[in-house]
Amino acid sequence: MIEFRNVCAGYGGGDVLQGLDLRVEDKSITCIVGPNGAGKSTVLRTLSGLLSPRVGEILLDGRALHTLSAAQVLAAGVAQVPQQGGLFGGLSIRDNMLLGGYLVRRQRRELNKRIDELAEVFPIVAERALDKAADLSGGQRRIVEFARALVTEPSVILLDEPTLGLDPKTCATVFETTQQVNALGTTVLMVEQNVRFGLQLADHGVVMERGQVLISQPADVLLGRSDMASMFFGAAPTEPAVDVPGGPA
Ligand SMILES: Nc1ncnc2c1ncn2[C@@H]1O[C@H](COP(=O)(O)OP(=O)(O)OP(=O)(O)O)[C@@H](O)[C@H]1O
Ligand SMILES: [Mg+2]
Repeated sequence: MIEFRNVCAGYGGGDVLQGLDLRVEDKSITCIVGPNGAGKSTVLRTLSGLLSPRVGEILLDGRALHTLSAAQVLAAGVAQVPQQGGLFGGLSIRDNMLLGGYLVRRQRRELNKRIDELAEVFPIVAERALDKAADLSGGQRRIVEFARALVTEPSVILLDEPTLGLDPKTCATVFETTQQVNALGTTVLMVEQNVRFGLQLADHGVVMERGQVLISQPADVLLGRSDMASMFFGAAPTEPAVDVPGGPA
Protein backbone atom coordinates (compact mmCIF):
# COMPACT_ATOMS: atom_id res chain seq x y z
CA MET A 1 0.00 0.00 0.00
CA ILE A 2 1.09 3.55 -0.73
CA GLU A 3 0.35 6.07 1.98
CA PHE A 4 0.66 9.84 1.94
CA ARG A 5 0.50 11.21 5.47
CA ASN A 6 -0.04 14.93 5.91
CA VAL A 7 2.16 15.77 2.92
CA CYS A 8 2.95 19.43 2.25
CA ALA A 9 5.03 20.15 -0.84
CA GLY A 10 5.51 22.93 -3.35
CA TYR A 11 7.90 24.68 -5.67
CA GLY A 12 9.11 27.58 -3.53
CA GLY A 13 6.05 29.78 -3.85
CA GLY A 14 4.11 28.19 -0.99
CA ASP A 15 2.69 24.70 -0.64
CA VAL A 16 0.82 23.09 -3.51
CA LEU A 17 0.02 19.95 -1.50
CA GLN A 18 -1.55 21.11 1.73
CA GLY A 19 -1.53 18.30 4.24
CA LEU A 20 -2.49 15.64 1.74
CA ASP A 21 -3.58 12.23 3.05
CA LEU A 22 -4.03 9.45 0.53
CA ARG A 23 -4.02 5.65 0.52
CA VAL A 24 -3.57 3.57 -2.58
CA GLU A 25 -4.37 -0.12 -2.18
CA ASP A 26 -2.04 -2.80 -3.54
CA LYS A 27 -2.88 -4.02 -7.02
CA SER A 28 -5.58 -1.40 -7.49
CA ILE A 29 -6.01 1.04 -10.33
CA THR A 30 -6.47 4.35 -8.55
CA CYS A 31 -7.32 7.44 -10.56
CA ILE A 32 -6.92 11.01 -9.33
CA VAL A 33 -9.15 13.62 -10.90
CA GLY A 34 -9.69 17.29 -10.14
CA PRO A 35 -9.45 20.76 -11.59
CA ASN A 36 -6.33 22.20 -13.24
CA GLY A 37 -3.78 23.25 -10.67
CA ALA A 38 -5.24 21.05 -7.91
CA GLY A 39 -1.86 19.39 -7.45
CA LYS A 40 -2.49 16.05 -9.17
CA SER A 41 0.84 15.95 -11.02
CA THR A 42 2.55 17.18 -7.87
CA VAL A 43 1.29 14.07 -6.04
CA LEU A 44 3.02 11.89 -8.64
CA ARG A 45 6.18 14.02 -8.52
CA THR A 46 6.48 13.75 -4.74
CA LEU A 47 5.91 10.01 -4.97
CA SER A 48 8.54 9.46 -7.66
CA GLY A 49 11.12 11.48 -5.73
CA LEU A 50 11.33 14.40 -8.14
CA LEU A 51 10.04 16.72 -5.43
CA SER A 52 10.67 16.36 -1.69
CA PRO A 53 7.83 17.00 0.73
CA ARG A 54 8.43 19.87 3.14
CA VAL A 55 6.31 18.09 5.74
CA GLY A 56 4.80 14.63 6.00
CA GLU A 57 5.60 11.09 4.93
CA ILE A 58 5.16 8.91 1.88
CA LEU A 59 5.32 5.18 2.55
CA LEU A 60 5.32 2.11 0.33
CA ASP A 61 4.39 -0.95 2.38
CA GLY A 62 5.57 0.93 5.44
CA ARG A 63 8.92 1.92 3.90
CA ALA A 64 9.68 5.65 3.69
CA LEU A 65 9.99 6.86 0.10
CA HIS A 66 10.03 10.60 0.80
CA THR A 67 13.68 10.52 1.89
CA LEU A 68 14.85 8.73 -1.27
CA SER A 69 16.19 10.09 -4.55
CA ALA A 70 14.26 9.50 -7.77
CA ALA A 71 16.67 6.69 -8.74
CA GLN A 72 16.21 5.05 -5.34
CA VAL A 73 12.41 5.30 -5.63
CA LEU A 74 12.63 3.54 -8.99
CA ALA A 75 14.83 0.85 -7.45
CA ALA A 76 12.24 0.53 -4.65
CA GLY A 77 9.67 -0.43 -7.28
CA VAL A 78 7.87 2.74 -8.36
CA ALA A 79 8.14 3.51 -12.10
CA GLN A 80 6.56 6.22 -14.21
CA VAL A 81 5.37 5.79 -17.78
CA PRO A 82 6.41 9.05 -19.46
CA GLN A 83 3.64 11.14 -20.96
CA GLN A 84 5.00 10.98 -24.49
CA GLY A 85 8.22 10.72 -26.42
CA GLY A 86 9.38 8.08 -24.01
CA LEU A 87 11.07 5.96 -26.67
CA PHE A 88 14.21 6.63 -28.70
CA GLY A 89 12.87 6.77 -32.24
CA GLY A 90 16.15 5.80 -33.89
CA LEU A 91 16.63 2.72 -31.73
CA SER A 92 15.01 -0.68 -32.15
CA ILE A 93 12.18 -1.81 -29.89
CA ARG A 94 14.54 -4.36 -28.32
CA ASP A 95 17.15 -1.69 -27.54
CA ASN A 96 14.49 0.60 -26.12
CA MET A 97 13.40 -2.24 -23.83
CA LEU A 98 17.01 -2.92 -22.78
CA LEU A 99 17.50 0.75 -21.94
CA GLY A 100 14.51 0.49 -19.60
CA GLY A 101 16.50 -1.97 -17.53
CA TYR A 102 19.89 -0.31 -17.41
CA LEU A 103 18.61 2.09 -14.77
CA VAL A 104 18.66 -0.74 -12.28
CA ARG A 105 21.81 -2.33 -13.77
CA ARG A 106 20.61 -5.86 -14.13
CA GLN A 107 22.62 -8.56 -15.84
CA ARG A 108 22.07 -8.67 -19.59
CA ARG A 109 20.88 -12.27 -19.42
CA GLU A 110 18.30 -11.45 -16.73
CA LEU A 111 17.15 -8.45 -18.74
CA ASN A 112 16.65 -10.54 -21.86
CA LYS A 113 14.65 -13.06 -19.86
CA ARG A 114 12.44 -10.32 -18.44
CA ILE A 115 11.92 -8.81 -21.90
CA ASP A 116 10.91 -12.22 -23.25
CA GLU A 117 8.36 -12.57 -20.44
CA LEU A 118 6.92 -9.16 -21.27
CA ALA A 119 6.77 -10.09 -24.96
CA GLU A 120 4.36 -12.88 -24.04
CA VAL A 121 1.95 -10.31 -22.64
CA PHE A 122 2.71 -7.61 -25.22
CA PRO A 123 3.49 -9.54 -28.43
CA ILE A 124 4.53 -6.40 -30.30
CA VAL A 125 7.72 -6.37 -28.24
CA ALA A 126 8.84 -9.55 -30.03
CA GLU A 127 7.09 -9.02 -33.36
CA ARG A 128 8.66 -5.62 -33.93
CA ALA A 129 11.83 -6.22 -31.89
CA LEU A 130 14.19 -5.11 -34.65
CA ASP A 131 12.08 -2.24 -35.99
CA LYS A 132 12.87 1.31 -35.02
CA ALA A 133 10.47 2.88 -32.51
CA ALA A 134 9.86 5.72 -34.98
CA ASP A 135 8.27 3.22 -37.40
CA LEU A 136 5.49 2.24 -34.98
CA SER A 137 2.04 3.82 -34.79
CA GLY A 138 1.17 5.99 -31.81
CA GLY A 139 -0.79 3.17 -30.19
CA GLN A 140 1.98 0.64 -30.75
CA ARG A 141 4.49 3.03 -29.20
CA ARG A 142 2.28 3.42 -26.14
CA ILE A 143 2.21 -0.35 -25.63
CA VAL A 144 6.01 -0.48 -25.83
CA GLU A 145 6.31 2.45 -23.40
CA PHE A 146 4.17 0.57 -20.89
CA ALA A 147 6.11 -2.64 -21.46
CA ARG A 148 9.40 -0.81 -21.04
CA ALA A 149 8.30 0.65 -17.71
CA LEU A 150 7.75 -2.93 -16.53
CA VAL A 151 11.29 -4.14 -17.34
CA THR A 152 12.47 -3.22 -13.84
CA GLU A 153 9.54 -5.21 -12.36
CA PRO A 154 8.00 -2.27 -10.51
CA SER A 155 5.23 -2.95 -8.01
CA VAL A 156 3.69 0.44 -8.81
CA ILE A 157 3.43 2.39 -12.04
CA LEU A 158 2.48 6.04 -12.30
CA LEU A 159 0.62 7.52 -15.25
CA ASP A 160 0.13 11.27 -15.64
CA GLU A 161 -2.60 12.00 -18.19
CA PRO A 162 -1.91 8.93 -20.32
CA THR A 163 -4.51 9.88 -22.93
CA LEU A 164 -3.53 13.53 -23.38
CA GLY A 165 -3.54 14.40 -27.06
CA LEU A 166 -4.33 10.86 -28.21
CA ASP A 167 -6.94 9.88 -30.78
CA PRO A 168 -9.83 7.65 -29.57
CA LYS A 169 -8.28 4.48 -30.96
CA THR A 170 -5.01 5.05 -29.12
CA CYS A 171 -7.01 5.93 -25.97
CA ALA A 172 -8.65 2.51 -26.23
CA THR A 173 -5.18 0.92 -26.49
CA VAL A 174 -4.08 2.79 -23.37
CA PHE A 175 -7.21 1.58 -21.57
CA GLU A 176 -6.56 -2.03 -22.48
CA THR A 177 -2.81 -1.86 -21.82
CA THR A 178 -3.34 -0.33 -18.38
CA GLN A 179 -5.69 -3.20 -17.53
CA GLN A 180 -3.08 -5.71 -18.72
CA VAL A 181 -0.38 -4.07 -16.63
CA ASN A 182 -2.68 -4.19 -13.60
CA ALA A 183 -3.58 -7.82 -14.28
CA LEU A 184 0.13 -8.64 -13.95
CA GLY A 185 -0.19 -7.54 -10.32
CA THR A 186 1.09 -3.99 -10.71
CA THR A 187 -0.54 -1.20 -8.73
CA VAL A 188 -1.50 1.69 -11.01
CA LEU A 189 -1.76 5.27 -9.76
CA MET A 190 -2.93 7.56 -12.52
CA VAL A 191 -4.07 11.12 -13.11
CA GLU A 192 -6.62 11.70 -15.85
CA GLN A 193 -8.33 14.79 -17.27
CA ASN A 194 -10.90 12.65 -18.98
CA VAL A 195 -12.86 11.86 -15.83
CA ARG A 196 -15.13 9.24 -17.32
CA PHE A 197 -12.29 7.44 -19.04
CA GLY A 198 -10.22 7.43 -15.85
CA LEU A 199 -13.01 6.31 -13.54
CA GLN A 200 -14.23 3.61 -15.92
CA LEU A 201 -10.71 2.20 -15.97
CA ALA A 202 -10.05 2.56 -12.22
CA ASP A 203 -11.24 0.58 -9.20
CA HIS A 204 -10.81 3.55 -6.95
CA GLY A 205 -11.33 7.25 -7.58
CA VAL A 206 -9.86 10.25 -5.79
CA VAL A 207 -11.02 13.83 -6.24
CA MET A 208 -8.42 16.48 -5.40
CA GLU A 209 -8.99 20.14 -4.85
CA ARG A 210 -6.47 22.80 -3.78
CA GLY A 211 -3.80 20.34 -2.72
CA GLN A 212 -6.02 18.07 -0.68
CA VAL A 213 -8.11 14.96 -1.14
CA LEU A 214 -11.76 15.94 -1.26
CA ILE A 215 -13.30 12.52 -1.99
CA SER A 216 -11.87 8.98 -2.07
CA GLN A 217 -14.33 6.29 -3.16
CA PRO A 218 -14.81 3.24 -5.35
CA ALA A 219 -14.62 4.55 -8.89
CA ASP A 220 -18.07 3.33 -9.92
CA VAL A 221 -19.66 5.02 -6.89
CA LEU A 222 -17.83 8.24 -7.67
CA LEU A 223 -18.79 8.08 -11.31
CA GLY A 224 -22.45 7.76 -10.35
CA ARG A 225 -22.58 10.59 -7.83
CA SER A 226 -24.91 13.39 -8.81
CA ASP A 227 -22.56 16.06 -7.46
CA MET A 228 -19.69 14.58 -9.49
CA ALA A 229 -21.84 14.94 -12.54
CA SER A 230 -22.38 18.62 -11.90
CA MET A 231 -18.74 19.17 -10.93
CA PHE A 232 -17.25 17.53 -13.98
CA PHE A 233 -19.84 16.84 -16.63
CA GLY A 234 -22.51 19.49 -16.25
CA ALA A 235 -25.05 16.64 -16.48
CA ALA A 236 -25.58 13.06 -15.33
CA PRO A 237 -23.05 10.70 -16.91
CA THR A 238 -24.91 8.53 -19.36
CA GLU A 239 -22.47 7.76 -22.13
CA PRO A 240 -18.77 7.01 -22.05
CA ALA A 241 -16.62 9.85 -23.36
CA VAL A 242 -14.66 7.49 -25.58
CA ASP A 243 -15.29 4.07 -26.98
CA VAL A 244 -13.43 1.92 -24.47
CA PRO A 245 -13.29 -1.86 -24.42
CA GLY A 246 -15.06 -3.26 -21.40
CA GLY A 247 -16.62 0.08 -20.51
CA PRO A 248 -20.22 0.15 -19.31
CA ALA A 249 -22.82 0.02 -22.07
N1 LIG B 1 7.74 23.32 -11.75
C1 LIG B 1 6.89 24.16 -11.15
N2 LIG B 1 7.30 25.34 -10.64
C2 LIG B 1 6.45 26.18 -10.02
N3 LIG B 1 5.13 25.94 -9.87
C3 LIG B 1 4.65 24.79 -10.36
C4 LIG B 1 5.50 23.86 -11.03
N4 LIG B 1 4.74 22.80 -11.41
C5 LIG B 1 3.49 23.08 -11.00
N5 LIG B 1 3.43 24.27 -10.37
C6 LIG B 1 2.24 24.87 -9.77
O1 LIG B 1 1.71 23.99 -8.80
C7 LIG B 1 0.29 23.97 -8.85
C8 LIG B 1 -0.22 22.56 -9.04
O2 LIG B 1 0.34 22.03 -10.21
P1 LIG B 1 0.10 20.56 -10.72
O3 LIG B 1 0.89 20.43 -11.95
O4 LIG B 1 0.37 19.59 -9.61
O5 LIG B 1 -1.46 20.59 -10.98
P2 LIG B 1 -2.40 19.54 -11.75
O6 LIG B 1 -3.52 19.22 -10.82
O7 LIG B 1 -1.59 18.43 -12.26
O8 LIG B 1 -2.97 20.44 -12.92
P3 LIG B 1 -3.27 20.09 -14.46
O9 LIG B 1 -4.63 19.47 -14.47
O10 LIG B 1 -3.25 21.42 -15.13
O11 LIG B 1 -2.20 19.16 -14.95
C9 LIG B 1 -0.11 24.91 -9.98
O12 LIG B 1 -0.47 26.14 -9.41
C10 LIG B 1 1.15 25.04 -10.80
O13 LIG B 1 1.22 26.30 -11.41
MG1 LIG C 1 -1.06 17.76 -14.15
